[in-house]
Amino acid sequence: MKSPTEMLEAEHRVIARIVGITPVLAQKLDEGDVIKPDILKSIVEFMRIYADKSHHGKEEDLLFAVLSDKGVPMQGCPIGALVADHVSGRSLVRHLSDSAEAYARNEPEAYEGLISSLRGITALYPGHIWKEDYLLFPMTNKLLSPEELEALRREFEKADLRIGHDTLERLARLADDLERQFG
Ligand SMILES: [Fe+2]
Ligand SMILES: [Fe+2]
Repeated sequence: MKSPTEMLEAEHRVIARIVGITPVLAQKLDEGDVIKPDILKSIVEFMRIYADKSHHGKEEDLLFAVLSDKGVPMQGCPIGALVADHVSGRSLVRHLSDSAEAYARNEPEAYEGLISSLRGITALYPGHIWKEDYLLFPMTNKLLSPEELEALRREFEKADLRIGHDTLERLARLADDLERQFG
């Protein structure tokens, strides 16, 4: 059975598949290639549900709350910086979503918004994931007792159930498919 930090690390590997194709899509759009609007919409859906609601939700609502109880400051490094990354990620995805809708309506200026939001995601996430894998999760494993880790794991499972395993598995398969197509 995975520990709570192993669960989040495994989700990072799935998120990294989508992040990994963002520079490829930006490059194609920059060269004037046509990308099907459905592909851009599915990336928005993945980032909103899998990356933000489910993954960032577990981090902010459950993990950071437990760390705060343990005396870890919520401002500054590392938690304040990580939350600021989540906020930036949400705004990039909102920009991507608006641009994808304009693109689906054949508005030529949508290209610029798509390229800049995709490149913003490419620039933000690898560093964010690195900070969590190498700083946040080792710190968590050091600060929490085995019982506290087990309680957190159970809360994570409940959070997954609220979103639905079917939805999460469908979005993880989507990440696999898109990586195969564009990776
Ligand atoms: Fe995060
Ligand atoms: Fe994360």
